[in-house]
Amino acid sequence: MKRIKIKELLQSKEFNKEFVIEGWVRTRRGNKNVNFIAINDGSTINNMQVVVDVPVFGEESLKNITTGACVKVKGLLVNSQGQGQTVEIHAKEILVYGTADTETFPLQKKGHTLEFLRTIAHLRPRTNTFGAILRIRHNMAFAIHKYFNDKGFCYVHTPIITGSDCEGAGQMFRVSTLDFNNLPKTEDGKIDFSQDFFGKETNLTVSGQLEGELAAMALSEIYTFGPTFRAENSNTPRHLAEFWMIEPEMAFYDLEDNMNLAQDFVQYLVKYALENCKDDLEFLNNMYDKELISRLEFVVNNDFKRLTYTEAVDILVKSGEKFEYPVSWGTDLQSEHERYLVEKHFNKPVILIDYPKEIKAFYMKQNPDGKTVRAMDVLFPKIGEIIGGSQREEDFNKLNDRIKELNIPTKDMWWYIDTRKFGAAPHSGFGLGFERLILFVTGMANIRDVIPFPRTPKNAEF
Ligand code: 4AD
Ligand code: MG
Repeated sequence: MKRIKIKELLQSKEFNKEFVIEGWVRTRRGNKNVNFIAINDGSTINNMQVVVDVPVFGEESLKNITTGACVKVKGLLVNSQGQGQTVEIHAKEILVYGTADTETFPLQKKGHTLEFLRTIAHLRPRTNTFGAILRIRHNMAFAIHKYFNDKGFCYVHTPIITGSDCEGAGQMFRVSTLDFNNLPKTEDGKIDFSQDFFGKETNLTVSGQLEGELAAMALSEIYTFGPTFRAENSNTPRHLAEFWMIEPEMAFYDLEDNMNLAQDFVQYLVKYALENCKDDLEFLNNMYDKELISRLEFVVNNDFKRLTYTEAVDILVKSGEKFEYPVSWGTDLQSEHERYLVEKHFNKPVILIDYPKEIKAFYMKQNPDGKTVRAMDVLFPKIGEIIGGSQREEDFNKLNDRIKELNIPTKDMWWYIDTRKFGAAPHSGFGLGFERLILFVTGMANIRDVIPFPRTPKNAEF
């Protein structure tokens, strides 16, 4: 008999019919006459209660049914008289696929800290919390593709190994097959990358944007969704060395269009989560963050506040707030500043635009004032920056001048600049950090808890 998933069976009204479920034992409790086994198969946060007539099976045959064991149960579906569930299975046959030793199984007891669970990343998907997070992550990934597909955007795969530095921040992981113990050298003593696999220096990408722009110059509306890598040594609750990014890029969009898309996109995703991940969100709301669901609803139902960087700095300077990092025109905003604007001043998500060109990437469209660029950052409660984007500089000369000003080697970038020579179009785009989105939607406080296997400085165990 084929197994039915617990999510589906919990909805069933086919009482007194036989079903097979398979899953992992969360708990077994009871007495000499009757046992109750809670089984979870990951299809939902809810468990199926299996009722066992102990004398029929014999106590000895049940001894391996312990927390963490994997079992197959065949039994009758009945209307439950107990509290906490509407249906249950009355067991006829139980098969133990895999035991879990009660002495050594780390998830024997409930209530482990999230910090401890990070040290057993190979087992934490078995907890309610990580089951919920993984299901929400999946739902968000699906909703992202659905959103763009419904709008006619084309999903473009951009390379993971690149020879260029999109953000110009120099925080890249090298990709090389050279023998580190015997590096080939050029005549002037430098490493000879012409002998490396690709015949040049290559790295893991920090962003798919540059290649995304090339595609947008043909398909007009595209998006990327892939892993990105940053070797920045920031040990914060919001940074990963390997994270996933969604980067839409659109021809014929100005900054205003870009902001409208960003707001609509994030609101759609949050609404999708509220509608499709109800049980998991309710669990996280009750366990971790009593304001989670109301915060999500608030974001769906309210426009984001839009203002310039200059206006924001003005507010921060006049706020009288004691910030760890002092703020003045020209400084990059820290998370504490972003959160002051969002959580204390405006009490809603904020989009900041027109940042000083010195603190933003080379590709952003220059404003006529000569000082600022058409950048936009979307700032969220509890997260700070969730999206970074801009209108792009499409003017060949201006882009070229900026690249020279910043000493960016044009030999790695010629193909990008080329698009400004052939049919250049006004265009814009942005990048949404997938894990920052998941942080917001789940209400978790640390980004290490919303990706199955976090990559952070000094941590790549699992
Ligand atoms: O602001 P960023 O650096 O922008 C770009 O990479 C542009 N190329 C995007 C574009 O215009 N197409 O990164 C975009 C977003 C951030 O707002 C943040 O949400 C996330 O990516 N992000 C990180 N998430 C986790 N860990 C890190 N180390 C991150 N760095 C950026
Ligand atoms: Mg940014």
